[in-house]
Amino acid sequence: MKTSPDQLRSHRWFGPNDLRSFTHRSRAKQMGYALEDFQGKPVIAIINTWSDLSTCHSHFRTRAEEVKRGVWQAGGFPVELPAMAITETYMKPSPMMYRNFLAMETEELLRSQPIDGAVLMGGCDKTTPGLLMGAITMNLPAIYLPAGPMLRGNWNGQVLGSGSDVWKYWAEKCAGTISDCDWNEMEDGIARSPGHCMTMGTASTMTAIAETLGLTLPGASSIPAVDANHPRLATKCGRRIVEMVWEDLKPLDILSEGSFENAIIADMAIGGSTNAIIHLVALAGRAGIKLDLQKFDELAQRTPMIANIRPSGQYLMEDFYYAGGLKALLRELGDLLDLDCLTVAGTKLGENIQQARTSNSAVIRSLDNPVSAKGGTAILYGNLAPNGAVIKPTAAEHRLHKHTGPAVVFKDYNDLAARINDEHLVVDENSVLVLQNAGPLGGPGMPEWGMLPIPQKLLLKGVRDMVRISDSRMSGTAYGACVLHVSPESFVGGPLALVREGDLIELDVAQRRLHLQVSDEELARRRSEWQAPERRYERGFGALYAAHVSQADQGCDFDFLQAGAPTPEPEIH
Ligand code: FES
Repeated sequence: MKTSPDQLRSHRWFGPNDLRSFTHRSRAKQMGYALEDFQGKPVIAIINTWSDLSTCHSHFRTRAEEVKRGVWQAGGFPVELPAMAITETYMKPSPMMYRNFLAMETEELLRSQPIDGAVLMGGCDKTTPGLLMGAITMNLPAIYLPAGPMLRGNWNGQVLGSGSDVWKYWAEKCAGTISDCDWNEMEDGIARSPGHCMTMGTASTMTAIAETLGLTLPGASSIPAVDANHPRLATKCGRRIVEMVWEDLKPLDILSEGSFENAIIADMAIGGSTNAIIHLVALAGRAGIKLDLQKFDELAQRTPMIANIRPSGQYLMEDFYYAGGLKALLRELGDLLDLDCLTVAGTKLGENIQQARTSNSAVIRSLDNPVSAKGGTAILYGNLAPNGAVIKPTAAEHRLHKHTGPAVVFKDYNDLAARINDEHLVVDENSVLVLQNAGPLGGPGMPEWGMLPIPQKLLLKGVRDMVRISDSRMSGTAYGACVLHVSPESFVGGPLALVREGDLIELDVAQRRLHLQVSDEELARRRSEWQAPERRYERGFGALYAAHVSQADQGCDFDFLQAGAPTPEPEIH
């Protein structure tokens, strides 16, 4: 045991024999606790992103009680602290705008109060990076408890996957191949239990990344939300975090260049969401590690994709769990990983996965029989994206990996919504759809608009994929030849702002190239005419966000959260 009771951080609040500590103790007693409940015990914050609108976390009130059970068992004192539930479904313009807000809230909840360690409860897309970014910066012992995926969707005997099948069947509805009645029945069957999206969307990707980084207990990210193993996991998190406080095992003892490289490799092997790139860059930045976009491409080249999960594969997260889950997948990756990296369990990654087995090789493939020989992400550069852009080739029709076509330009999402299905729109299957002003500042919040809809007249002709380019993101559950995260974004005058109707755009995934076939002289002329759009916010969080958010290639963190001297512990007077 490294830490003694009088070295606990909470001891500064509860221990001294002075006026302030009298108040702190008397107020704990006000809630019915006795000295024996909290004195000299690790105070464990259970940061709970539950809300009535946080649909993926609807089981969290019960789970928080199950975490408390473990904390009590191990001799700690649990306190539940609600944090903003940045829910993917309802928050507009995009929960991405509030990720850094959750990170700040997490950091300050821990800093300003008598907390010795934390269990972080999240799962819906941005909650994982938001909670972890704050916890890494605060650097108190912390365990991440992922919400777990929901059960498979079901309609008319068919398995439905979150997001992916919404886009797929919406296109069919627009093409007239399914009825309104079919569509309404799907609404009843696609989300039928607590838990996060059960495709390999951003939620499943980020929880797998949290586990690979060593920030969850082994196997935690794959357990379905409603499986009885999930409450058992919650209680185990409660027990373990108390031990971690005594061991003084903190996030920065666990995170390293090796663990981030492992996370990128796992991301490629699961065919993870493109959103993970932004979040990983931001998370690494909080740990003082610079992750270059090139690193993602380099590791993608040598990491086969072996998880056969939608949208890049066939199955869903429930199948993944039954097939052995992330532990089995990491075991398949074997020596591609740095197995010496430490985890919150106090053991090394290699030890955690030693006994793991793959029980269904159709879902978790082996390295010599992958779904795709290379990882699911490619980083593109060119005069249209000097600081990089992202594409998920495994989720795009192969014929579009190399394509040149004339641009059809939409100046923002409203323009897109107004004209995309206009029968007079000049567009065919070879066109390249371009959406401007949808980035971190332009969206604002870089909404998941990157899977631009296929014009209805092309859907009716049977077209299901086209090259689409934007500075926005794409849901991890989405698919198609969508070039995303174009950086710098058009709102700040990036080259995407200079694209005009009919310009030829060349995409070449193999060459990692995204090129606007317009001369430098003409681009310079257009730049001299370009006018910056008006600021979107004059006040409030929007103004803070706009003043400090970084571009996609830098992780969209706030500049003042990635830099500066550490914030001191609060004085207690
Ligand atoms: Fe919460 Fe998809 S809506 S994970």
